[in-house]
Amino acid sequence: MKIAVFVSGTGTNLLNIIKKTKDGFLKSEVRLVISDRGCEAIEISRSGGIQTAIIDPKNYPDESGYGKVLMQNLEKCEPDLVVLAGFLKRIPNSVVKNFANRIINVHPALLPSFGGKGMYGMKVHRAVLDYGCKVSGATVHVVDTEYDHGPVLLQRCVPVKDDDTPESLASRIHQVEYEVLPEAIKLFEESRVEIEGRKAFIKW
Ligand code: GRF
Repeated sequence: MKIAVFVSGTGTNLLNIIKKTKDGFLKSEVRLVISDRGCEAIEISRSGGIQTAIIDPKNYPDESGYGKVLMQNLEKCEPDLVVLAGFLKRIPNSVVKNFANRIINVHPALLPSFGGKGMYGMKVHRAVLDYGCKVSGATVHVVDTEYDHGPVLLQRCVPVKDDDTPESLASRIHQVEYEVLPEAIKLFEESRVEIEGRKAFIKW
């Protein structure tokens, strides 16, 4: 499978996906990395010799212009799957439509709690701690036109400890993201994902 990965940050999930393609867990190849800004993830991509593009939505007058440029870049590599790994912008409707049920995102909480617009990075973990939750985790979901909203594909829990800080919780959740995101990609490699309405079924 050819994969395109969208990033905005440190890129540890990107690095992990690349590692999983090299160690044989995944049969896919990361063919394209797109970011909305210069970031560490872009450096990871470039140093891995992966085709890389920075496309800042601010440079386009509207969503449709931004969507068009994203599509032009995606069409060059014809990905089978698009993976959002720490991408902070909303995917334009036209791209969601063109890649219907073929875009996935990893979110660092158990959706539908602690997700949505503005819920990213340490804000998520701070909100979980402020609420007093006993568990949190990672969610991989199929992307639709709303933030953190599409059908849930995989979720994994981690405990929330009394002495957790947002940073310690984030780090525990990152560890399970490094499992569930490659597992989700593998499900697509094996054509085991079926979407019906807002439900994602895994065929056994
Ligand atoms: C992850 O926690 C992911 O759940 C969220 O953004 C973070 C990206 O981390 N969507 P990294 O850039 O892969 O290290």
